[in-house]
Amino acid sequence: MTANELRSKYIEFFKSKNHVQISGKSVIPENDPTVLFTTAGMHPLVPYLSGENHPAGTRLTDYQKCIRTGDIDQVGDPSHLTFFEMLGNWSLGDYFKNESISWSYEFLTDKKWLGISPDKLSVTVFAGDEDASRDEDSASVWEKVGIPRERIHFLPKSDNWWGPAGETGPCGPDTEIFYDTGIEPCGDNCAPGCGCGKYVEIWNNVFMQFNKKKDGTFEPLKRKCVDTGMGIERTTAMLQGKKSVYQTEIFQPLIHVIEKLAEKKYGENEIDDTSIRIICDHVRSATMIIGDPKGVLPSNLGAGYVLRRLIRRSIRHGKKLGIEGNFLGKPAEWVIDYFKDVYPELTEKKEFILKELLNEEDKFLKTLQHGEKEFQKLLPNLQKNPKKIIPGRVAFRLFDTYGFPVELTEELAAENSMTVDVEGFQEAFKKHQELSRSQSAGVFKGGLADHSEITTKYHTATHLLHQALVNVLGDHVQQKGSNITAERMRFDFSHSEKLTQEQIQQVESIVNEQIKKDLPVKMEVMSLTEAKAQGARALFGEKYEDKVKVFSIGDFSKEVCGGPHVEHTGLIGHFHIKKEQSSSAGVRRIKAVITDE
Ligand code: ALA
Repeated sequence: MTANELRSKYIEFFKSKNHVQISGKSVIPENDPTVLFTTAGMHPLVPYLSGENHPAGTRLTDYQKCIRTGDIDQVGDPSHLTFFEMLGNWSLGDYFKNESISWSYEFLTDKKWLGISPDKLSVTVFAGDEDASRDEDSASVWEKVGIPRERIHFLPKSDNWWGPAGETGPCGPDTEIFYDTGIEPCGDNCAPGCGCGKYVEIWNNVFMQFNKKKDGTFEPLKRKCVDTGMGIERTTAMLQGKKSVYQTEIFQPLIHVIEKLAEKKYGENEIDDTSIRIICDHVRSATMIIGDPKGVLPSNLGAGYVLRRLIRRSIRHGKKLGIEGNFLGKPAEWVIDYFKDVYPELTEKKEFILKELLNEEDKFLKTLQHGEKEFQKLLPNLQKNPKKIIPGRVAFRLFDTYGFPVELTEELAAENSMTVDVEGFQEAFKKHQELSRSQSAGVFKGGLADHSEITTKYHTATHLLHQALVNVLGDHVQQKGSNITAERMRFDFSHSEKLTQEQIQQVESIVNEQIKKDLPVKMEVMSLTEAKAQGARALFGEKYEDKVKVFSIGDFSKEVCGGPHVEHTGLIGHFHIKKEQSSSAGVRRIKAVITDE
């Protein structure tokens, strides 16, 4: 069975059980500042799992584009992917454990559907703890449908509890379904959950019963829900008896595209194979991110930064394989074509996707040239080191300032009979990550936040712009989105008419006045209610924690925000509006830059 057949059958099955098919959403989460990407099928459904009514009813099913970049460094092994598709079905206060488990078993084993032999299946259920009791209910349903007791394993929260998707939200005990690959057990205790690869998890049924609160405690949800997730790539590999997702039709033709470009054969050399797999995976993710309706472009911030890393990592591996010049367009074209029926948005944006990939390839090439030049400048001094070791902090500076990858510093070092203190580099890198993390208060999970001086200035300038727009245009102005790179800021806000030249100038000069006044920027932590009572601006529809940070810029502006910000506005520089245009119906967009002058 192919991945496309699996996707269709799943949806068809759940429709036959009175589910309504809803469309999957963007890979960039709507109104969720705590994560960069949609990581699970349930993610866009959090408000409904939390108690809101869904317009399509109480039984839903869909397929969802997901991106998980947490384990980016493991990508390249035969199973880790950054982009994958998740099939899911949901009960919003409708059916619970009995139907959920019985239907999963029916879909997996019935000849009309997947027809997997029941002997191949085993399951895990929640063993119970102080938060929720041992899940005997699920175990008895599994027994009733035909899984013998010895293949039902009780495991603790670390294995059999799912959620929340962010820091807080709906979660609960789950039951996971495993496929036995038939390989030898890893030992006497080999069992689902042991991680040796014999048992592969193909489906997860979560019984959402709790809302996890900020203080770590659980409160019962208004209604009990079911959230399930089945990874398409992994399940397809199992159904085809393949050990790796890369052996299925989801990847094979894509691998051939890379083989041709590299003039190498997959399967002959493990180092080359890893590079090929990394390119295949990263090109899929990059294509999905750029081609998404909410399209993100490579940048130094948030999701854009992760995208940049994915693209640059592919380019580096292309170089390792000996591919000359720009090449990402070819594999991306294959990805767009492969998904043409299920994600037609990619075909619509094909030219755009290819152009942006090419842009980033060109930029990275320049980065490499700059980095190399800088390295040559440093070289005479570095060679004075008697041990011929390049300190980690120097390698990190090349990386941090020029985006020059440490592997390339190592290569250049080797050409000059030197080595790099890679451990020192890792240390410097970790320190930088920790700093970013603490500054962003956990906002940018799954990717590095960028808190360089320049982006920090842009953050503060955004608050000034927001207030200046309200002053000039009126109270209806609300922030609809913002995006900051090291080169510019973009700010979307509600307003239905084009701004006049005069209004633009007014806004610009109000912002510059506040900069000239060198107003202090102050941060206070308070409850959201208190912040609102004080008249702080907050994003409409945004989810906030119980305690929020409120930034005040003199008496000019007050906003709920995660930061980071400069300490006083004089540090910002000069603010110029470059462009004012329409973004969508009723929403205008301003692009602005800050310069020293
Ligand atoms: N939300 C659950 C998961 O991602 C189904 O595994």
